[in-house]
Amino acid sequence: MTDLEQILSEARAKVAAATQAESLRAVDREYLGKEGVVAGLLAAIPTLEPSERRAAGQGANEVKTAVLEAIEERKAALAQEALSAQLSGEGFDPTLPGAVQRRGSLHPITQVTRELEDLFTSMGYSVLDGPEVELDHYNFEALNIPSDHPARDSQDTFFCDPEGHLVMRTHTSPVQVRAMEQLEPPFRAVAPGKVFRQETTDASHEHTFHQMEGLVVGKDISVGHLIGAMKTLLRGIFGRDLDVRLRPGYFPFVEPGFELDARCPFCEKGCSVCKRTTWIELLPCGLVHPNVLRMGGIDPDEWSGFAFGLGLSRLVMLRYGIDDVRHLLGGDLRFLEQF
Ligand code: DAH
Repeated sequence: MTDLEQILSEARAKVAAATQAESLRAVDREYLGKEGVVAGLLAAIPTLEPSERRAAGQGANEVKTAVLEAIEERKAALAQEALSAQLSGEGFDPTLPGAVQRRGSLHPITQVTRELEDLFTSMGYSVLDGPEVELDHYNFEALNIPSDHPARDSQDTFFCDPEGHLVMRTHTSPVQVRAMEQLEPPFRAVAPGKVFRQETTDASHEHTFHQMEGLVVGKDISVGHLIGAMKTLLRGIFGRDLDVRLRPGYFPFVEPGFELDARCPFCEKGCSVCKRTTWIELLPCGLVHPNVLRMGGIDPDEWSGFAFGLGLSRLVMLRYGIDDVRHLLGGDLRFLEQF
């Protein structure tokens, strides 16, 4: 036992005498290394009387723990000393500005998408995703747009294969059909995402932009339900109630189809945003065409639904007063840093 105490006090003295990381490491090796003092103590145990072994093992382990603790403590103290020395030394100027950390932020489209996802999930909608490279079947055919339909002309399509079976989706509406195939009615869903059109770009046209599709399928769904949902959407976006009006609009996958306008949230008597009309075009929508329900595997005699196609890019532009859609995906940090 006295041996152990002696070993420990010597070790402590050496630790205290170490003034550098290197000499401290040497003490560590000497006592705790593979062939160090502690290892020697442990190796000697089998040579002892059986009755002494237990106490010897315990003692050796206590020495090990104590030395380790002393070394750690000293290491921390040395690090602190080194830091103080550095701070008080020559050439250290605490008044120099630090390195600036550039902070990123979420893209305005991401911000608005998340806000709307929150709003819709609070109303019981699920958020769905669909492929950006889509089958012609989902992008057109199952949406009641057969291959000879003139509506295809208004959605100039990027084709991904010579046969034209695969397209870059021209709208988020194909997710409607995928949703109907996957979910049991009744259900409500939104599907935000990128869409693509073969377009000459200008301030209001971009080949890649964002939409958010909405689809509700249930019993006896009417235009009243559609208007109610859209008014809630407006309250979520603009923070207050806005009057809406419906104009007839034609889309092959809804019947009847509408263009929904809302009272301009920015003025009362007409401004540049509403082009002096006091109305802004909000979104196209309608009651889901029976053919589309059928294509999605849903019986139109039993179920009905409404759908809408919110132009996310347009909404973001409206919200932040952005006058050129090309800013959105242009990747210019001077633009993005404003959000
Ligand atoms: N998918 C259409 C487009 O991009 C927009 C649209 C119209 C979506 C009517 C709908 C709808 O869900 O009901 O041109």
